[in-house]
Amino acid sequence: MRQTILVTGATGTVGHEIVKQLSMQDVTVRAGVHSIIKGENMRRLPGVEIVEVDFNDPGSLHAAFTHVDKLVLITPLSENQLEMARNLVEEAKKQGVNYIVRLSALGAGAEPGIQLGRWHREMERYVEESGIPYTILRPAGFMQNLVNYSSTSIKREGKFYMPVGEGRVSYIDTRDIAAVVEEVLLSDKHHGKVYELTGPEALSHQEMAALLGEATGKQVDFVDVPEEAALQAMLKHHTPAPIAEAILELYAAYKAGKSAAVTDTVQEITGRSPRSFRQFASDYQECF
Ligand SMILES: NC(=O)c1ccc[n+]([C@@H]2O[C@H](COP(=O)([O-])OP(=O)(O)OC[C@H]3O[C@@H](n4cnc5c(N)ncnc54)[C@H](OP(=O)(O)O)[C@@H]3O)[C@@H](O)[C@H]2O)c1
Repeated sequence: MRQTILVTGATGTVGHEIVKQLSMQDVTVRAGVHSIIKGENMRRLPGVEIVEVDFNDPGSLHAAFTHVDKLVLITPLSENQLEMARNLVEEAKKQGVNYIVRLSALGAGAEPGIQLGRWHREMERYVEESGIPYTILRPAGFMQNLVNYSSTSIKREGKFYMPVGEGRVSYIDTRDIAAVVEEVLLSDKHHGKVYELTGPEALSHQEMAALLGEATGKQVDFVDVPEEAALQAMLKHHTPAPIAEAILELYAAYKAGKSAAVTDTVQEITGRSPRSFRQFASDYQECF
C-alpha cells in the first residue's frame, strides 16, 4: 500500500522543498500547512494532499495525523517551539506513526553550545524518547535564507547586511536537505542515526557577495554591521526579543568561525555532492 508521509511546516523554506521532491516519489505526501491559502499552490503537485494544522492547537492535529505512516517533523523558530514539538510528537505517538525524520540544526549536539542549539537538542529529546524509530538531521544555515532576508536589499542597493565579520559558514542548499530527507524516508537503514549536513565549502560573506555578483552580473557587496544594528532591525521587523538574541548569538558563532566545519554526509547519503554556493547563486539569480 502507498505510504502516507506527513510534512509539517510544509510552506516553510525547507518544508516546501521537501514536499516538492517527495511528490516525485510513489508516496502520498500530506502537506501540513498553517493556512490553506499559503499551501494552495502545492495542490498542483502529484500525490500531495493539503491539511490545515496549528501546532499550538492539539485538537487541530488529529485529522492531519490520521493514517500517517511517517512524519517529517519541522517546527518554526518561535517562542513556543518546544511546546509545538511536544504537541506534534504526542499526536504521532497517539496515532501510531512508525517513523520520524526530525529537522533539527547543526550545533544541537554542542555543549553548552548556543541557545538555538539547546532548543533544538531539547526537541530532539522528545523524538528520541517517543519510542518511535527516528532519524535526526542537523543542517547548517540555509543558502536560501539570503533569498528570504537579503534579496530585497541586494535588488535595491546591491548590498546585504549581517553582523558576521569575515567568519566563514558552510551554508547548505535546502534542495540538498530535501534530497537527504527523501533518501532516509525511503530506506530503513538510517534509523537511530543523527546526521550533520553542510554544503561543500565554508565561505565568507564577502566571497558569497562576489559569487552573487558573478551570477547576476552586477556589483554585490556584503556589509558587516554592529550587533546592535542587527538587533534593532530584527526588533523593528517584530522578531520577539528572545529569538532576536538567539539569532545574534548564532551570528557571533559565525563571526568566530565556529560554523565553518564541512561534512560529507550529503554525498554519503545521496551519492551526489551538495550544491555549491556558486550553483545556488546561478540557480536563484532572478531573486537577486
Ligand atoms: N533557516 C535556517 O538557516 C535553518 C538552519 C538549520 C535549521 N533550521 C531549522 O529548520 C526549521 C525550519 O526552518 P525554516 O527556515 O524552513 O522555517 P520557516 O521558513 O519559518 O517555516 C516554518 C513553517 O512552520 C509553519 N508554522 C509556523 N507556525 C505554525 C503553527 N502554529 N502551526 C502550524 N505551522 C506553523 C509556517 O507556516 P506559516 O508561514 O504559514 O506560519 C512555515 O510553513 C526550524 O526549526 C529551524 O530552526 C533552520
